[in-house]
Amino acid sequence: TLEDYTVSSNGFLPEHLPLERLPDPYYTPWESLTESLPVALAKQTLRDSVHCLPVLSTDRLSTEPEWRRACVVLGFLTHAYIWGGDKAAEILPPQLTLPLLSVSSRLGLPPVATYASLNLWNFRTTLGGNLTDPAALHALLTFTGTVSESWFYTLSVALEARAAHLPGMILSGFTALCSPLATLTTLQETLTEIAHTLASLTALQDRMHDHCDPHVFYHRIRPFLAGSWNMGAAGLERGVFYDEGPAMGECQWRRLRGGSNGQSALIGLLDWVLGVEHAPGAAGEGDYHREVKEYMPEGHRRFLADLEEAYPCGLRKMVGELVMADGGSPAVAAVKEAFDAAVAALGAFRNRHLQMVTRYIIIPSRQPGGAGQGVNLATASSARATSGGGGREELTGTGGTALLPFLKQSRDETFRARRLQE
Ligand code: ALA
Repeated sequence: TLEDYTVSSNGFLPEHLPLERLPDPYYTPWESLTESLPVALAKQTLRDSVHCLPVLSTDRLSTEPEWRRACVVLGFLTHAYIWGGDKAAEILPPQLTLPLLSVSSRLGLPPVATYASLNLWNFRTTLGGNLTDPAALHALLTFTGTVSESWFYTLSVALEARAAHLPGMILSGFTALCSPLATLTTLQETLTEIAHTLASLTALQDRMHDHCDPHVFYHRIRPFLAGSWNMGAAGLERGVFYDEGPAMGECQWRRLRGGSNGQSALIGLLDWVLGVEHAPGAAGEGDYHREVKEYMPEGHRRFLADLEEAYPCGLRKMVGELVMADGGSPAVAAVKEAFDAAVAALGAFRNRHLQMVTRYIIIPSRQPGGAGQGVNLATASSARATSGGGGREELTGTGGTALLPFLKQSRDETFRARRLQE
């Protein structure tokens, strides 16, 4: 069942609203620091405050919501520590390293801020608020205290909520389609609903402009989302050293990808169900789409893996077999048409995302920087471009990919799913 995969009636969002605070007063030092995070970052006192924290144990966390809240708190504190100064911090102190490693391993996540900690588990609603309405949502934690940042995170929460029925519908759809009583109508209806939902997600995505300012996003928010992968130009050639303190054995340098919506299991689910195949990156990176699954909570990763194993290429395979067997029949033609419409809707979603990237990243990257605090990734990116790119701007996504080549390739691979036989 969906519950075995920690998929809820809210889809990949939790069943109940995330905890706003860890209830055990033992964790007050963490909670007090996160409460004043934007102020501490603005005053550049955050690193000193982290050094003064006691090394707290995770033994007092008990329920799943408590583990998730700890993951949110530690994810924000970690990125605030790394990026909250004139230079990136290469060493993560034991006060953060030890609990972060423990919480991450418990939830099956890497020790870094992910889509789960920034978005899925980081929101509250106004009273009686509907999760599909972004105006009713607020982020629990932000680095900057700005409306732009809260809106940036919670718009994704609303997107997930609008697609909350898809995991269950797709799972039961496959069971139904694999039974002898399956009809072409069921298949067509499933595909039509996917296309319909995607159109609503694309419209919602456009609402980023309502309350997220591109300049604030690029210069003040985005620097904190970066990871330690591909961040040599920002001073993290070796990644980040996770200091576990003297008593512990295995301190490690780690290079991890930063927070990105590419880590959403919903996107993975849509790619799989439509049989979109992503090849390793043109820009020399590995297979980001595969690797990114390691950045999803354990249950969600297992959900996608089990589906992929049971039904490789999702509905594309089924539609392909139907067309091969009986392509001339009007009922099969209608299924193929519904399939093409669903693929086109996912391609359109990715195209609109590319337009958003132009407005929120490409254009601000060409304008003079703001008076933001923290390491400026704009400067880091142009340093990279100057050293190796023959003067051409080479931007890196917060997930560590070569931004435009990666997104364009993903979009093109989406449309290619319409060619059933390849
Ligand atoms: N992945 C997005 C970026 O690169 C957030 O800015």
